Amino acid sequence: MKPMTSTDPILVIGGTGKTGRRVAARLAARGVPVRIGSRTGTPPFDWEDPATWAPALRGTRAAYISFFPDLAVPGAPATIAELARTALAAGTRRLVLLSGRNEVEAQRAEDVVRACGLDWTIVRCAFFSQNFDEGAWLEEVLAGRVSLPVRDVLEPFVDADDIADVVVAALTDDRHVGQLYEMTGPRLLNFEDAVAEIAAAVGRDISFVSVSIDDYVAMLKEYGLPDDFIWLLNHLFTEVLGSKAQLGDGVQRALGRQPRDFTDYAREAAATGVWASSVEA
Ligand SMILES: NC(=O)c1ccc[n+]([C@@H]2O[C@H](COP(=O)([O-])OP(=O)(O)OC[C@H]3O[C@@H](n4cnc5c(N)ncnc54)[C@H](OP(=O)(O)O)[C@@H]3O)[C@@H](O)[C@H]2O)c1
Repeated sequence: MKPMTSTDPILVIGGTGKTGRRVAARLAARGVPVRIGSRTGTPPFDWEDPATWAPALRGTRAAYISFFPDLAVPGAPATIAELARTALAAGTRRLVLLSGRNEVEAQRAEDVVRACGLDWTIVRCAFFSQNFDEGAWLEEVLAGRVSLPVRDVLEPFVDADDIADVVVAALTDDRHVGQLYEMTGPRLLNFEDAVAEIAAAVGRDISFVSVSIDDYVAMLKEYGLPDDFIWLLNHLFTEVLGSKAQLGDGVQRALGRQPRDFTDYAREAAATGVWASSVEA
């Protein structure tokens, strides 16, 4: 097998998403050749089309795997196994897997990566802070009313910038090979408090409403969201979120520093203007 060289590119799967684009930017800033693994990449990478995987992996020294839509989806471990086999055959030497906490299927996917014969690092994450400004909850924040099926649930939201820092370290530094990093922010926070922090940072009234899971699913159906996405959100809110909520030490172990706090995230996101304009709910 060809030895890994510093001129071989690193494939960043999900390289246009919340964590992937941060990973790609950090690697590029260090002068590391990057290949973006996305449907708009060159060559394109599509989870729905395994024929695209080998061309995207060929000649890469390492790959970051941010699976879409979520490792919690049934069948995800089998997909990750096929990707790992493809990576091995393509000469890729290292895989860094973005995983989720308290997810049975995600933990099976981790086992697949651990056993695949390549160097590996698992970056197992709590809910991202960036869901509020780059993800599913942005529209409701803009509408001034966030309705979610949670009450007094604590979650140690983790910052996507911290995730990217750890992933880049794992992709480029041998000391992280064989490590599993439990990635959380520095404190447990409930959703009401998280929304209140955002409201304070942006200087607007934003309310938080706890709804039943049945009302939430009905609301998603009314919005016309696809059934598999509704299944995923239902699963995340009933099975994953807040269960066994506890802090992890992944940022501290991998980087030797504290993770970024939600208050700092909210202040910096507010400063970008992303939450400045209100829209009709
Ligand atoms: N969000 C969280 O709080 C959280 C917490 C823990 C773990 N995770 C994990 O993080 C991963 C990503 O979740 P996210 O919510 O943060 O999403 P995201 O990374 O923002 O997702 C968007 C990315 O997925 C790519 N994508 C979408 N469909 C694709 C397809 N068919 N083929 C190839 N790429 C595709 C998009 O690329 P193009 O559109 O350019 O193709 C884009 O790069 C999931 O595996 C999830 O389990 C998320």
